[in-house]
Amino acid sequence: MNKFDLNSYLSSKRKQIDNALGVIIENYSKDSKIKTAMEYSLMSSGKRLRPILCIAAAETVGSHLDDTMRAACAIEMIHTYSLIHDDLPAMDNDNLRRGQPTCHIQFDEATAILAGDALLTLAFEILSSVESADKDHAFNRLRAIHTIAMAAGCKGMIEGQMQDIAAEGNVLGLEDLKKMHRLKTGALIEASVIAGTILVNGNRDQIKKLKNYARNIGLAFQITDDILNVEGDPDIMGKDVGTDQARGKSTYPSILGMEKSKIFVKKLVNDALKVLDYFDNKADPLRAIAHYIVDRNK
Ligand code: IPE
Ligand code: IPE
Ligand code: MG
Ligand code: MG
Repeated sequence: MNKFDLNSYLSSKRKQIDNALGVIIENYSKDSKIKTAMEYSLMSSGKRLRPILCIAAAETVGSHLDDTMRAACAIEMIHTYSLIHDDLPAMDNDNLRRGQPTCHIQFDEATAILAGDALLTLAFEILSSVESADKDHAFNRLRAIHTIAMAAGCKGMIEGQMQDIAAEGNVLGLEDLKKMHRLKTGALIEASVIAGTILVNGNRDQIKKLKNYARNIGLAFQITDDILNVEGDPDIMGKDVGTDQARGKSTYPSILGMEKSKIFVKKLVNDALKVLDYFDNKADPLRAIAHYIVDRNK
């Protein structure tokens, strides 16, 4: 039996996503300071996990449509905007992101705020653009846009970010911490998987199963981010470590302890894998990504 090669899968998808993002940003507007700042953050070396999940979910249940790549790119823009704003002095006040100075350090705070705003807006411009859209898929596109908007907004990621900032210096209970992580990081990861599934006309059962998969890996992903903030190598990660403790953030290692956090992450990954038993080997990329989420070092 052929073993699925995750590394080549990830690098080939990253290449396709980077190409598509490059074309979008190139055609976006004439050269300007804001475009330079958007491109600076968007085209830096992110893992592209969310767009890859969107495509991998689509490929699990259907054939890969143009719409999927557009949605994948839009989701990466929303994610990049969230990182630019997350790094601002008023939020986490970080200097290093994706191996380079954060947007507000490279440019200035106003430019970073606006570059984030512009990436968020561009995402919905791309999602709703009709140029190359297939009319038959208009309803699915609308559902996917709604899913992404709900996840990015104040019932999802924004609420999670608000809770994260409000909790600085306090010790959260485990349930509140889990809620915060599911919102600030889990929501967009879930939306990536669901949007990909909807866009290839996935049925209710498929959506339900994949939502469950994404809910588990979304939480596992943020807990691993907490773990790497303690044990990771900043040169590999491209961002500083030890910052959560310095800022009095509630994290899984600080509340539950390192060992139990790692055990919990493994349980979440196993739960995610169990859900995938429903699917055939087209779900192998999603299976391998579930392992990668905890085994990663960046
Ligand atoms: C970092 O996300 C922020 C979190 C939600 C944990 P990633 O670890 O996916 O960052 P990039 O996109 O690879 O830079
Ligand atoms: C980032 O969370 C979540 C969002 C940007 C929505 P963190 O603040 O924990 O992520 P890093 O560690 O800065 O990447
Ligand atoms: Mg933060
Ligand atoms: Mg941060």
